[in-house]
Amino acid sequence: MKSYLQQCAAIVEQSLANVLPAEWDVPGKLRESMMYSLEAGGKRIRPALVLAAAEAIQGKSSAAENALPVACSIECIHTYSLIHDDLPAMDDDDYRRGKLTNHKVFGEAMAILAGDALLTHAFHLIPQAARKGGIDAQAALDIVEDLAMLAGARGMVGGQVADVLGEQGVTSIEELEYIHLHKTSDLIVFSVTAGARIGGASPAQLELLEQYGRNIGLAFQIQDDILDLIGDEAKLGKKTNSDVAQQKVTYPYLIGIDESKSQVKRLTREAKAAVLEAELAMPKRLLEIADYLVQREY
Ligand code: IPE
Ligand code: IPE
Ligand code: MG
Ligand code: MG
Ligand code: MG
Repeated sequence: MKSYLQQCAAIVEQSLANVLPAEWDVPGKLRESMMYSLEAGGKRIRPALVLAAAEAIQGKSSAAENALPVACSIECIHTYSLIHDDLPAMDDDDYRRGKLTNHKVFGEAMAILAGDALLTHAFHLIPQAARKGGIDAQAALDIVEDLAMLAGARGMVGGQVADVLGEQGVTSIEELEYIHLHKTSDLIVFSVTAGARIGGASPAQLELLEQYGRNIGLAFQIQDDILDLIGDEAKLGKKTNSDVAQQKVTYPYLIGIDESKSQVKRLTREAKAAVLEAELAMPKRLLEIADYLVQREY
């Protein structure tokens, strides 16, 4: 499985290197700051899900090629969310993907603006994919609409706001689930359904893949919370105990490590059941990714 994800990461990274047109007149520092975080590494799980979902629907690997600009688009959004998440006003973290965080290198003003520019650029990439002819205009419209909803106020940003406001006061699992479903699952749901739209999924398949994304996304964030407590900093490329320092209420804090681990397993089982029900041409990679994420150490 790791090698499939590594393969996807290599393809995506090649594309990300040229994601900002060389001929655009962009201030040098801004370009440097954006590329610093985009090229810092990372697992590239979200773009891999875009590629894997497109392939799962069509049953052939050429589908993934058409999906590549959308895969880069979600990685731009995710990277911007990490740059802002690490700022002193938010989680105040110094390391990310094994390197100093963006604001530690470029200063807070540039980190905020690099995030803004990555967010905006994500919306440039999707119509570009349609212009190249790889995806049809209707799919591109649907994907832009989904991205605005799932990355914005009703999605990732809403989840981050709930996370910030909830720092000390979250007492119920329902409140915590809201935070995790939005700050993390929504971008994962976007990735899976965007890939599925590119592949030409039916409405029923889209709904089941949305369930898959919601479940692996929630499992992914619970695992992130677990790793914040018991993970290895060298492997993670970020400091552990960040949640403790920020007094975050997490799954392990509320229900304990063992129960958190069994939730991750349950959610993964449910995610795989949704994929199997969707009668995809090639479900293998989506099932493997779900299994891989349960046992990830970084
Ligand atoms: C980290 O995401 C932020 C969360 C939503 C938990 P990843 O664990 O996917 O980070 P990278 O992209 O691999 O660095
Ligand atoms: C971050 O959650 C989610 C987003 C960036 C949207 P965390 O704050 O737990 O992520 P890490 O642990 O810093 O990667
Ligand atoms: Mg955070
Ligand atoms: Mg954080
Ligand atoms: Mg975390």
